[in-house]
Amino acid sequence: MDVIVAGDRAGLAEARRTLGIGREAPPGRAALALVPTMGALHEGHRSLIRLARERADHVAVSVFVNPLQFGPGEDYARYPRTFDTDLEVCAEEGAGIVFAPSAEEMYLPDRQVGVSAGKMGTIVEGASRPGHFDGMLTVVLKLFNLVRPDVAVFGRKDAQQLALIRRMVLDLDLPIEIVGAPTVREADGLALSSRNRYLSPHERTMALALSRALFAGAEQGRPSEIRRAARAVLDAEPGVDLDYLVLVDPATFTEVGEEYAGEAVLAVAARVGTTRLIDNVVLTLG
Ligand code: PAF
Repeated sequence: MDVIVAGDRAGLAEARRTLGIGREAPPGRAALALVPTMGALHEGHRSLIRLARERADHVAVSVFVNPLQFGPGEDYARYPRTFDTDLEVCAEEGAGIVFAPSAEEMYLPDRQVGVSAGKMGTIVEGASRPGHFDGMLTVVLKLFNLVRPDVAVFGRKDAQQLALIRRMVLDLDLPIEIVGAPTVREADGLALSSRNRYLSPHERTMALALSRALFAGAEQGRPSEIRRAARAVLDAEPGVDLDYLVLVDPATFTEVGEEYAGEAVLAVAARVGTTRLIDNVVLTLG
């Protein structure tokens, strides 16, 4: 079946009706899974849509470059917008609905209320991008309310985003299952990102230091050794302007101590040329 494109609330409600969502789902089986995106879809997004299809009878993909989660001086204006190709990707991967609202459809001009990401929204990535996580959670909550999925799928590459969405679901009692999908990488280790297209060939080569650093850290055992090994790789690449390298608890994003046992996220953010990139790996310590 062709993908149904909805640009507003009425179109979305009509798409749900056309697909019979909310009527025919057998008990225990999810009727609708949502994959929220900002478009510029790549192989990583394809893997999210495929995972969503395994989890539910129907898949909706939202395509919306959310102005609320970009700070002044960030790349909102130049963020890649490739809607025609995105539609093809969604159709090829079997999504039933593409929800692509305008900013006017999403936000009233005198908008007052939004979601606060709390203290966790102000550390690590949130310290470098003030307000980013408030804007991200606000749009994700609105997408949940508009699309009304049973399941939503997010990439683990945005690990702090995923942790905050899980926290929002818990704190606000949202009836949605959150699924985290593994990061997809190029053969040479570069994590797929819509922002990779900003990189020149030379910058792309320098950007490989991020994943190299994470893999070097992952070979070590203790937190201090993990941080030291990863840092050494980044220090050896002068083209990489490091923002942060942290080893944190995946649920709280606070730094883990030397005796920590359990899952930890080794996360990095750096600027290569004018492009800001993030990446992470999940490790089991202790
Ligand atoms: O990860 C993204 O692409 C965005 O942060 C999201 C979740 C679609 C919200 O705008």
